[in-house]
Amino acid sequence: MALLILAHPNFNKSIANKTIVERLQKSNLDIEIRNLHALYPDFSIDVQAEQDALLRHNTVVFQYPFYWYNMPAILKQWFDYVFVHQFAYGLQGDKLKGKNFIPSFTVGAFEDQYRTLEKHHFRVLEFCKNLEQTAYFAQMNYIDPVYFHGTSGVSGYGEYEIKDRAERHAEKLIALLSEMQ
Ligand SMILES: Cc1cc2nc3c(=O)[nH]c(=O)nc-3n(C[C@H](O)[C@H](O)[C@H](O)COP(=O)(O)O)c2cc1C
Repeated sequence: MALLILAHPNFNKSIANKTIVERLQKSNLDIEIRNLHALYPDFSIDVQAEQDALLRHNTVVFQYPFYWYNMPAILKQWFDYVFVHQFAYGLQGDKLKGKNFIPSFTVGAFEDQYRTLEKHHFRVLEFCKNLEQTAYFAQMNYIDPVYFHGTSGVSGYGEYEIKDRAERHAEKLIALLSEMQ
């Protein structure tokens, strides 16, 4: 029913993203999970397989940790190779038209640091403009990102708190996906 593209370079050591994915797997929703690093450890994306996966679903969730105010490199590689001319855009490039595009990510630093005069200067949503426009360009239905803060081991919450917030994040996603069924 939904496709989840998981991009985490070190998923075994993940707390936040792993908790989210495990919670989704325990839900009764039918979600196809594609773990990009497990599938493509050398970054060589199977474009046909990824496009076929997209065609099977009406909703795509992009699940990842926020890296350098953006997505992990393998997910950028995925977009560069999979969202191509005559598939995602162009005269015949309407294959993704009307599908839901849901960013779902975890942010290391706390929200109060994502302010003009603070360390990270911009709101998280300001860093998501590229995602939003990518979705529009592919004629997809952009859904506001689901995310939470404080997942960094160094300057975030403790493990228990991160897991708790990740569970709540997953509940939000489950509610969102259930509405879309
Ligand atoms: C390469 C790298 C870049 C990161 N960049 C950011 C960043 O730009 N902003 C931020 O708040 N956290 C940043 N972080 C922290 C991650 O977002 C955080 O570790 C992640 O959300 C934790 O999720 P996990 O438990 O699933 O690994 C970065 C971490 C790494 C390893």
